[in-house]
Amino acid sequence: MLPKITREQLKQYNNQAKQQWIVIDNKVYDVTKYKNIHPGGWESITDQAGGDATRDFDNMGRGHRVDALPIMEGLLVAELHEDEPSVRTKEDYEL
Ligand code: HEM
Repeated sequence: MLPKITREQLKQYNNQAKQQWIVIDNKVYDVTKYKNIHPGGWESITDQAGGDATRDFDNMGRGHRVDALPIMEGLLVAELHEDEPSVRTKEDYEL
């Protein structure tokens, strides 16, 4: 089972450990190393370090999701606490 963390713990971890963890769809990914080889550049990932990149990720569309998901399996480190799910609005889907 993956550890569950809160948004506050995620934020603190990023500040203290100098690691970049991001949330996408309630899952927490360690992009500390991957950011250096991300084809979209490191800024697009680290912009959301310590926070939730679900919306940005959704906005990249289906092609990006299909390419990214297999890679993300290897970067998965934790899950967001269920009291604090990633919120999606209708807007997010109007690409
Ligand atoms: C761990 C999470 C992510 C993984 C594994 C990942 C993976 C990839 C891969 C494999 C590509 C090249 C193939 C493609 O464009 O479909 C790519 C491109 C890109 N990604 Fe990501 N990505 C992640 C998160 C994000 C996030 C949060 C953003 C924020 C906007 C982002 C923005 C981009 C951009 C702008 C490109 C370049 C697209 C282009 O050149 O047309 N990615 N990513």
